[in-house]
Amino acid sequence: MRPHIEVKDLQVSIQSQGQTIQAVRNVSFTLYEGERLGIVGESGCGKTILMKSLLQLLPSTATIDSGEIWYQENNLVTLTEKELQGIRGKEIGMIFQDPMTSLNPTLKIGYQIAEGLLRHFPLITKKEAEARALELLCQVGISEPKLRMQQYPHLLSGGIRQRAVIALALASKPSILIADEPTTALDVTVQAQILDLLQQLQQSSTLLITHDLSIVASFCDRVIVMYAGQIVEEATVSELFANPQHPYTQRLLQSIPRIDGKGDKLHPIAGSPPDLSTPIQGCAFCSRCTEAMNICRTETPPLFDHSHPDNHKARCWLLDARRKK
Ligand SMILES: Nc1ncnc2c1ncn2[C@@H]1O[C@H](COP(=O)(O)OP(=O)(O)OP(=O)(O)O)[C@@H](O)[C@H]1O
Ligand SMILES: [Mg+2]
Repeated sequence: MRPHIEVKDLQVSIQSQGQTIQAVRNVSFTLYEGERLGIVGESGCGKTILMKSLLQLLPSTATIDSGEIWYQENNLVTLTEKELQGIRGKEIGMIFQDPMTSLNPTLKIGYQIAEGLLRHFPLITKKEAEARALELLCQVGISEPKLRMQQYPHLLSGGIRQRAVIALALASKPSILIADEPTTALDVTVQAQILDLLQQLQQSSTLLITHDLSIVASFCDRVIVMYAGQIVEEATVSELFANPQHPYTQRLLQSIPRIDGKGDKLHPIAGSPPDLSTPIQGCAFCSRCTEAMNICRTETPPLFDHSHPDNHKARCWLLDARRKK
């Protein structure tokens, strides 16, 4: 598989109340063509900041301190705002965590989608853009699409609004879709419908960000687990669920209910993630880890290879070959 997006050693910090928050710490990963890659981790671990940094849609207080983001022979970090505008939305579609971030509350749904199309494809007529907007609303399963075209976002239910956001993101047939918690605000039934929809519509690469491992299990091919701004584990979905290596991933899996009812009772992870505004010494998970060793408190573990054929990696000293010996 060919890389579609390649992130190398990305570091992002945020200035907040006189402090510097290290929100994304040395993150490297590849999204391959045609794959569905999940990024999972508990609240505050840096998923949204990572997603926003890919297209430089960061809050004004955030900075990419170092790193590279490669897409079609361009390092996106070095592109100008104008060059990025040609890629954002057109080649890389985005669904933000809060649907109202994507939708303008003062404009009718149909107008917003048509407007986006006209911006990306200046050669089409307004009529063609409106017809395509209507087609898109049908495609994402919105009932009475003609009526919805004329409605403002606040008049739509959560499920329909999210479908409209997906229509907007897919309008220009982007080759990559980045979706940040696209179903979090929705009830379970609508959640399943939206995931089905994404599965049917999106033929090219998808980066799905979620805190929900069950969504990863049903949707993704491969998964990255983040903790305190870092990647702590990376594997195919089947490998991660069958053979998690990082104690954090193991605890995460123990903290979700199993559909077959097997396993003990649920085990929430005791403690809380480290404060990202002070330098982290050693392993970031160390204070919550029941298997922590002395080295974990002082040295940051690298991403160790666990199994080569599956490209399974985990950032944990327990995987150090010297320890096995
Ligand atoms: N605008 C901001 N100003 C200050 N700090 C921020 C801002 N946005 C994010 N952060 C901080 O950056 C870190 C990463 O936040 P981020 O929103 O990426 O987490 P997340 O993994 O997406 O969490 P969630 O699952 O709750 O969406 C957190 O410590 C958060 O408090
Ligand atoms: Mg988030």
